[in-house]
Amino acid sequence: MKIEKIKGFRDHYPEDMEVRNYFFKKITNAAENFGYQLIDFPSLEPLDLYRLKSGTELVNQTFSFTDKGGREVTMIPEATPSTVRLLTARKDLPRPVRWYSFPKVWRYEEPQEGRFREHYQFNADMFGLDSEESDAEIVGLASSILDYLGLSGVYEININDRFLMEYILKDLGIENIPDAFSIIDKYKKIDRNSFIEAFRGIGAEGDEIKKILSLLNEKVDTGNLERKVKKVVKNYEEIKPRIERIKKTFDLIGLYTESPINYDFSIVRGLSYYTGMVFEAFDVKGELRAILGGGRYDDLSKLFTTDRIPAVGFAIGDAVIELLLKRQNLWMKRNIKKSYYICNLSSVDEDYIIKIASRIRSLNKIAIVDMTHRKISSQMKSASGFDFAIIIGEREFEENTLTVKNMKTSQQSIMGYDDFLLQLRGDD
Ligand code: HAM
Repeated sequence: MKIEKIKGFRDHYPEDMEVRNYFFKKITNAAENFGYQLIDFPSLEPLDLYRLKSGTELVNQTFSFTDKGGREVTMIPEATPSTVRLLTARKDLPRPVRWYSFPKVWRYEEPQEGRFREHYQFNADMFGLDSEESDAEIVGLASSILDYLGLSGVYEININDRFLMEYILKDLGIENIPDAFSIIDKYKKIDRNSFIEAFRGIGAEGDEIKKILSLLNEKVDTGNLERKVKKVVKNYEEIKPRIERIKKTFDLIGLYTESPINYDFSIVRGLSYYTGMVFEAFDVKGELRAILGGGRYDDLSKLFTTDRIPAVGFAIGDAVIELLLKRQNLWMKRNIKKSYYICNLSSVDEDYIIKIASRIRSLNKIAIVDMTHRKISSQMKSASGFDFAIIIGEREFEENTLTVKNMKTSQQSIMGYDDFLLQLRGDD
């Protein structure tokens, strides 16, 4: 019997992990430069954690089961509820709290370009502030990460505001907001007639549906946002303060990035816990699924405490990022640490060789010792791809020297051990 890998899951070989890790470090480095701190949590959580606030769509996608103790548990499909649990369990943290995490998450989705059943997901969240500044910092961090990865010019960020959307929908007489959001969330995936039918299904009339469609049909800047909302709502003055907040947020985001930031009424997000600003980033060509997504979720803390703790954050999956980096020809191995391959011709004494390897490693460089006892030509073949080959034979051992070959320039020289150490320090 041949046992196959499970559908939608990936194996990762060293050549891919090396490149992936390089970009993961860039992402976490950017977050740390913004003052975000790493947290972690279990990969298995009670299913109820998602039932109440994440929404049925996500719950239907979980890898969930009943454990041997009869508990309904699930492999985590996202990080946000766990993150909020950690936060609410600590009353002593000075706010705002800035946290990031980089778990694997699992979703039973149809595997397709940029979507798997298991993926790495970087999360960044800020707790304790409900303001334009905190909304802008989160979008600013998301765009700074994409810029830092080398993706400027390749992506755009589309923003909406659930508070505004809810106001507009209610103003149009639509009361079933969760269903209205879930129809709007499908706006780009279903045809116009199905969209209209779905809204009729929750009691909306032709005129109201027309108004909703007039909002969704194009992305706009904040000036046009005002114009569009004025045309649709009965009393603009009532919602004006929210429009002012959105405008201010956009102005602040502009201080973080030069990338295009649009107002897009069709972005409402699939998860139900969002309460304010919501956003997603897409490739400008519009070929791929969302690169990242997030928003404000001020009520999720109520799962764990009576306090309402303002929260805003986002998550980036590794899959679409990898596709984009490959399209930009950025997905390549980079030799960040200098590497040394030590050819071992002396079968007499390995002390000297291990001592050299340890010194190299102590300076945070890579050293591999050949252990095969093959002839020099075979060992040198293994050294290709390294920065340097070091050859240690009987003579080098006896004279306390090393033969060092620069594999890029093919220059070779014999050096005393102390001279080699001096050169090693200045190698970077
Ligand atoms: P989400 O939009 O469900 O949000 O997922 C965030 C990102 O994870 C997506 O934009 C995408 O890059 C990636 N992603 C989602 N599903 C898959 C999949 N099946 N395969 C590969 N990548 C995927 C959340 O999960 C929220 N918890 C984000 C958040 C954090 N909101 C506030 N803080």
